[in-house]
Amino acid sequence: MAPAISLPRKRNFRACDARVSPARTRRLFHRQTGQTMATERTFSILKPDATRRNLTGAVNAVIEEAGLRIVAQRRIRMTKEQAEKFYEVHKERPFFGELVSFMTSGPVVVQVLEGENAVAKYREVMGATNPAQAAEGTIRKRFAESVGENTVHGSDSAENANLEIAQFFQDSDIAA
Ligand code: RTP
Ligand code: MG
Repeated sequence: MAPAISLPRKRNFRACDARVSPARTRRLFHRQTGQTMATERTFSILKPDATRRNLTGAVNAVIEEAGLRIVAQRRIRMTKEQAEKFYEVHKERPFFGELVSFMTSGPVVVQVLEGENAVAKYREVMGATNPAQAAEGTIRKRFAESVGENTVHGSDSAENANLEIAQFFQDSDIAA
């Protein structure tokens, strides 16, 4: 079972203050109460273990069931340079070489996901880095093979989501 995550109801909210940036925050404004709620974007990768096992559709179903919208998606073969840049933060870690080698070992699907609190929500839907510690119903618990080959990547902050989306997508690739 996918984790049940409820979205705030959008009825009575209208869009305002839409800014044009890859991971823009679109605010919805409630006419009566004056409350706003933020629609956020995050960056996702379906890793080579997912494409190898033909799990693209199964993982996307979990993402969509959680209320996240896939607003951009492309299947690519990551180059060594792209993988090294993407995971640069981990370059001093002992697993860096293995990580780059894995991420370039087969096709990946890069995605932009949109929804309320999309960054935190997708991290929750993904589950812990090590699938043995991931909660029931999460993508990693259901599909991941090991801590190294753990099926999905998701941004860990809104700031990193912006940077990661910009590494793989242009504004014109994203249709919300
Ligand atoms: P990700 O960046 O891929 O979404 O994963 P994460 O935030 O849950 O985990 P992070 O600490 O950022 O690690 C990045 C990826 O490196 C691989 N890893 N291998 N062998 C190991 O001990 C080890 N630790 C991490 C995983 O593929 C992890 O997702
Ligand atoms: Mg990470």
